[in-house]
Amino acid sequence: MRLTIGVDIGGTKIAAGVVDPQGRLLRRTTHATPADDPVALADAVARTVDELGWERPDDEVVAIGVGVAGFVDEDRSTVVVAPNLGLRDEPLKERVQQRVDLPVVIENDANAAAWAEARFGAGRGSDHVVCVTLGTGVGGGLVLNGEVYRGRHGVASEVGHYRVVPYGRRCGCGNHGCWEQYASGRALEAEAQDLAKANPARAERLLKLANNDASAIAGQEVTQAAFEGDEGALACFRVVGAWVGVGLADLAAILDPECFVIGGGVSDAGDVLLEPARHAFQQNVTGRAVRRIAEVRVAELGSEAGIVGAADLSCR
Ligand code: BGC
Ligand code: NA
Ligand code: ZN
Repeated sequence: MRLTIGVDIGGTKIAAGVVDPQGRLLRRTTHATPADDPVALADAVARTVDELGWERPDDEVVAIGVGVAGFVDEDRSTVVVAPNLGLRDEPLKERVQQRVDLPVVIENDANAAAWAEARFGAGRGSDHVVCVTLGTGVGGGLVLNGEVYRGRHGVASEVGHYRVVPYGRRCGCGNHGCWEQYASGRALEAEAQDLAKANPARAERLLKLANNDASAIAGQEVTQAAFEGDEGALACFRVVGAWVGVGLADLAAILDPECFVIGGGVSDAGDVLLEPARHAFQQNVTGRAVRRIAEVRVAELGSEAGIVGAADLSCR
């Protein structure tokens, strides 16, 4: 069988897997992401790939796709900037290529996730899918007319850094008021932590889950408390969900997709997040009284999407 390897470089871990032509993940491994050191990062990617150790007589692994959480140039080789990974003008393709025997392609992590969802996941069967990943940052992937749209310089779908609030919150990209400051996993945590500091009584459950340390409340805890029906946690999701919906409305105004697929860790909350998001989306989208409105779906492939998409895109 003709197989590919996908690698997903995130803020905390590097996940890699062997993927078959149907988008199935056959084997998977992870490593911690080394902080602020591009050489150690390339070493870790190579080690992760090695560890997969796929050698079977009937199989041929043909390429490695590496998804990374940053602006990737049009040659799919350089990371122009990775706001949450501390990379700048990083020749990632070259560096990884020196360490492995197969051809390497670099891809933006959210483009990879979008491709996987459009081909094998929640966007299956649709030619116009916009995927938004809500994690440490906010990522975007555009599958338009059945193909990944990258723009002239590779960075067309950097939706996390489109400005939703003039002079708003400072962002790792150097700008202010970016969508990812309001709609990401970090934004959810900040919302919960603020609530716990300003109004501990409303955040009783959240504080309990974080051993009474307001600044330690993490996204997963907010999700857990929301699933239990905790009002404070649900309020945090309403705020972040509304920001998600407002952003989707702007994207729909420009791109008119058939569906949005919402992925990334925050989307584990499912309808707790998507209900307020859909509501804000419908309230804000242009021509809402007359136009056909894109569906907002939750991602199906979870944390596999980045690996599967990077792998599948590596030989296209
Ligand atoms: C980066 C994107 C990335 C997204 C999700 C953003 O901060 O600019 O390149 O896709 O985070 O990881
Ligand atoms: Na993207
Ligand atoms: Zn930004």
